[in-house]
Amino acid sequence: MNFTDKNVIITGGSAGIGFATAKIFIEKGANVLITGRNAESLHTASVNVNSPKLKTLASDISKLADIAMLEKEVAESGNKIDVLVLNAGIAKQFSIEETTEEVFDDLFNINVKGLFFTLQKLIPHLAEGASVILISSGVSVSGYAQMGAYAATKSAVDAIARTAATELADRKIRVNTVAPGLTDTPMNHQTPEHIKNAIAAAVPLKRIGEAEEIANAIVFLASEEASYISGSYLSVDGGVTIRR
Ligand SMILES: NC(=O)c1ccc[n+]([C@@H]2O[C@H](COP(=O)([O-])OP(=O)(O)OC[C@H]3O[C@@H](n4cnc5c(N)ncnc54)[C@H](OP(=O)(O)O)[C@@H]3O)[C@@H](O)[C@H]2O)c1
Repeated sequence: MNFTDKNVIITGGSAGIGFATAKIFIEKGANVLITGRNAESLHTASVNVNSPKLKTLASDISKLADIAMLEKEVAESGNKIDVLVLNAGIAKQFSIEETTEEVFDDLFNINVKGLFFTLQKLIPHLAEGASVILISSGVSVSGYAQMGAYAATKSAVDAIARTAATELADRKIRVNTVAPGLTDTPMNHQTPEHIKNAIAAAVPLKRIGEAEEIANAIVFLASEEASYISGSYLSVDGGVTIRR
């Protein structure tokens, strides 16, 4: 897979799955722009990668003004986008009874509204034949306790992906969804070990995922090798979704 001089944008690229994906694209020759809310985390990511091919932009996906800033940056670069990875997201675990309006709004503003309007504003900047990858979650098609609002955001992501795959096909743009299972990223660093171990025990492969394993699937879907794959929902979860 060769991405020499391809232009890649990854929302939420300063940590976890987004950062692992950025590193692989850079290794394969792409120019990568990563976003995130925290400028310090973006700086740390940039220092770690240490490549002139990596650019960063502090931009909060839940704010339309920040999405406009991202669009302006892309427009001013004069480059079309070859790969767009809509990855920025947050997780909050509450039962339906315990979910406050604030929790619900935070989840939907970032995971759904932010993703939707980032896609909308960047559609005009996508190259013919571009690849768009939306990061969902295995919970979008299963039923875990404490995940009601988060799972609902990810089901919405799946629906947006299916619609986009249909609307953008005329421009030969492929749109796919990657659905990770529990993955070892900063998102889960607060999760107690015994809970991670219990989840791992329920996975057919008997472990949780690594960020690089999700990133490899994203990079594959973005590549020429996936030229006939569009509208797919790719579970990358050690087989756990087949247990639903
Ligand atoms: N890890 C898992 O087990 C797992 C499982 C299934 C699905 N996923 C999904 O995979 C995606 C990546 O998750 P991850 O585990 O890599 O998370 P992570 O380690 O918490 O990293 C999230 C990234 O998104 C950025 N981000 C968060 N909110 C943002 C916002 N409002 N605007 C812009 N950037 C934002 C973060 O930077 P800042 O905090 O600086 O903004 C960070 O760069 C998410 O969509 C998540 O729902 C993860």
